[in-house]
Amino acid sequence: WTLMAGIILLSYLIGSIPFGMLVSYIGGMGDIRQIGSGNIGATNVLRTGKKKLAVLTLLLDMGKGSFAIWCAYIFAINYTVQAESLAAILVVVGHCFPVWINFKGGKGVATGLGVSLALTPIAGLLSCIVWLLAARLSRISSIGGLSAFVAWPLFIMIFNHLDLKTPLLFPALLISLLIFFRHRTNIYRLSNGTEPRIGEKNQKN
Ligand code: G3P
Repeated sequence: WTLMAGIILLSYLIGSIPFGMLVSYIGGMGDIRQIGSGNIGATNVLRTGKKKLAVLTLLLDMGKGSFAIWCAYIFAINYTVQAESLAAILVVVGHCFPVWINFKGGKGVATGLGVSLALTPIAGLLSCIVWLLAARLSRISSIGGLSAFVAWPLFIMIFNHLDLKTPLLFPALLISLLIFFRHRTNIYRLSNGTEPRIGEKNQKN
């Protein structure tokens, strides 16, 4: 239990590093929460017009997702699946609800993709491809993210012969649900056709 509590705390703290905010401040763009959608993710950093800062945010947010899984893998010698599952959920929770900025964090896509790659490499890679393709074809970031997190649990199921008891399906489903929950305003705008395309301005949400 001490081990699991440690993994929970560590993963949450890793997830709660608001890289989008830090990158924007250090890049001289000020508080990213005052720009565009007010979100701290790479999509909103892109609205500042600084592509490199957006890519850096994306990579750092993905990196922290993978990093939390690797930490759990290293620390939990005999309980790898349980530890990795907890780390997966908690690092995304940390990104979405970071203690440092009043629990108002991001929407979880980049961190979730990093988790998916470290936790289930093939299903994760395919989900990243779905994300890229859907975002590219629609030119709408949220469509990319939401498609990837419909695809990820499906890929896990397919690769495990549709076995619903596959241990890693549970964290994947929970993360996907959380990401959909965090995209409520995007889903509302998608439904009435007002979701902006990548790089376009956005109302605050
Ligand atoms: O993952 C976030 C993205 O899908 C939407 O971001 O800033 O347009 O709400 P944003």
